[in-house]
Amino acid sequence: MTAPRTRRVFDGAASVVTLAGKGGPRRGPDMAELAILENGSVVVDADGRIAWVGPARELPATLREGAAIVDCRGKTLMPAFVDAHTHLVWAGARKDELELRLRGADYEEIFAKGGGILASVRQTRATSDDDLFAQSHARITRMRRCGTTTFEIKSGYGLELETELRQLRVARRLAAEGGFRVRTTCLAAHAVPAEARTSPDARAAWVRTIAEDILPAVASAGLADYADVFCDRGAFDLDESRTVLCAARALGLGLRVHANELGPTGGAKLAAELGAASADHLLHVDDDDRRALANAGTVAVLLPGTSLVLGKPFADGRALVEAGVAVAVATDCNPGSCAFENLAMVLALACYGNRLSVAEAICAATHNAAVSLDLSHEVGSLVPGKSADLLVLATADVRDLVYHAGSPFVDEVWQAGERVA
Ligand code: NIG
Ligand code: FE
Repeated sequence: MTAPRTRRVFDGAASVVTLAGKGGPRRGPDMAELAILENGSVVVDADGRIAWVGPARELPATLREGAAIVDCRGKTLMPAFVDAHTHLVWAGARKDELELRLRGADYEEIFAKGGGILASVRQTRATSDDDLFAQSHARITRMRRCGTTTFEIKSGYGLELETELRQLRVARRLAAEGGFRVRTTCLAAHAVPAEARTSPDARAAWVRTIAEDILPAVASAGLADYADVFCDRGAFDLDESRTVLCAARALGLGLRVHANELGPTGGAKLAAELGAASADHLLHVDDDDRRALANAGTVAVLLPGTSLVLGKPFADGRALVEAGVAVAVATDCNPGSCAFENLAMVLALACYGNRLSVAEAICAATHNAAVSLDLSHEVGSLVPGKSADLLVLATADVRDLVYHAGSPFVDEVWQAGERVA
């Protein structure tokens, strides 16, 4: 992407949701402190960085001079969304399973019978790099049109070295060629592939392959920032998860964990113990788990779209906030359990399902999500020095994102000072 040639003033917005203030993980009451400016302006320099934020009437004449003006009267300015949990590089679709589930079939049963994740593995393995890139590019482009400029992207539909590497390369290509802001995660420990389901020895060998072959290869190729494990009922148990996560940590990768979605399996505590950047899903956690996450500073990433699609309970977001855990919200965009792309709508589900307040949910889908990806120095708040990743909303009141959930309020999406949608 090219930087804009001139300085730009986003001028006279009815409301500027800055999230200025506490820079680290926001917990408890800090999550609801959005630092909203009424009748405010934001100045973006030619290098795509925010230069000034303040009341419109205090905008220095020297900054306005020669700048391109974006008239924001009646609008809201807010940080672009940060999606901290996606599986968006996959091939094909599983709409047949959607139909089955709507008629009562169970997600875990479909998975145990070799469908679910394994169906996407078959399709992804059989798809060329260019086709995988094209399918993923179409999705991520729609996601950005909904207001997200930063994406965490997991592998996990290869479940063999070559296809895991191919998925991660496609994710990197989305950044290099598509201009999306991307952090990548190796999720080779997403499932046990069909060929390793023949015996307990074959299963143990698969865990060793992940720890001793796949993660080292991914790390030495510089293809992943994080590693993740699906630590849950029917997936990987605590010992297996620990083996994978410790190997990843020794290679210098950050850690994320799919934890406590299908049962109280101990994944959240393991994530806390190992200092993981995030523990995700968290439908089945107790006070002990919440305390462990709070003490470790591990961000809880809630995925309410998945609860809705699978007909599961919603994670208790209220209890997490009250326990002092930093909470983020993400789409989980994947071919099976939730193919939602619109993080603005998922943010609303976090209010209705996870019982976050509107302000907490906005913090969860911007600043705290950025913290979980170690990108809060760049995105997630409208503060001088940060990248101008921002949204122009067609409303004076940001609460409309929840009140009228799903309506098209995102008028303009800007990334690094350039209009991208
Ligand atoms: O986060 N829980 C495991 N992985 C995904 C689902 C992946 C799939 O069904 O393809 C999730 O929900
Ligand atoms: Fe997931």
